[in-house]
Amino acid sequence: MSVLSRLLGKSATDGMTVEPLRKKHLADVMPIEHASYPKPWSANVFQSELEMFRRGERTYLAALQGRALMGYAGMLYAGDDGHVTNIAVGARYQRQGVATRLLAELAWAAIERGSTGLTLEVRVSNTSAQALYERFGFESAGIRKNYYENVEDAIVMWRHGILDASYRARLRELCPEAAR
Ligand SMILES: CC(C)(COP(=O)(O)OP(=O)(O)OC[C@H]1O[C@@H](n2cnc3c(N)ncnc32)[C@H](O)[C@@H]1OP(=O)(O)O)[C@@H](O)C(=O)NCCC(=O)NCCS
Repeated sequence: MSVLSRLLGKSATDGMTVEPLRKKHLADVMPIEHASYPKPWSANVFQSELEMFRRGERTYLAALQGRALMGYAGMLYAGDDGHVTNIAVGARYQRQGVATRLLAELAWAAIERGSTGLTLEVRVSNTSAQALYERFGFESAGIRKNYYENVEDAIVMWRHGILDASYRARLRELCPEAAR
């Protein structure tokens, strides 16, 4: 949070809107992507993912404050599960609930589609993302050895039973703004 925002008591989630990620957002996505990952996706990968979003095979979302892109997230659908493909928040907007909102919106999108579980991979070293996922009830289900750049292991995380009333209540509590 900037010093000015802190003094004014404002946070990134004040006035945050979430909308479908579009090609027009990609110029603002790419700097966040490059700052976030050792092996960032190229603009071509995003374009091909957005094409699959248009065909209904993916969900991609942008979190905005006014016209400023704060973060983005996406999910692919495989069988009965939603697989989180990407979630990243610009450094100046972190720790203010932006990823929580994005992940809640993805979870609701999966629920509305009838998916029964959510899954993802996360670097063993990425304890901040793991803490976020654990809040959403994800649990470690195994390790993929040397998954990242052939050197770092991935933890495979799952959350089953997302259609249960108790999980929907948990989502509403975690992020009332995204609640359906
Ligand atoms: C992981 C990431 C998406 C979190 O985004 P964010 O908007 O800052 O997350 P939130 O503010 O919603 O945080 C929710 C909770 O997650 C956990 N968390 C998030 N960032 C954390 C950090 N740096 N250290 C410890 N816990 C953290 C905390 O439990 C946090 O709740 P709290 O702030 O009340 O303690 C962001 O750090 C990021 O973009 N990282 C780079 C990309 C990345 O690693 N993506 C995940 C790939 S698997």
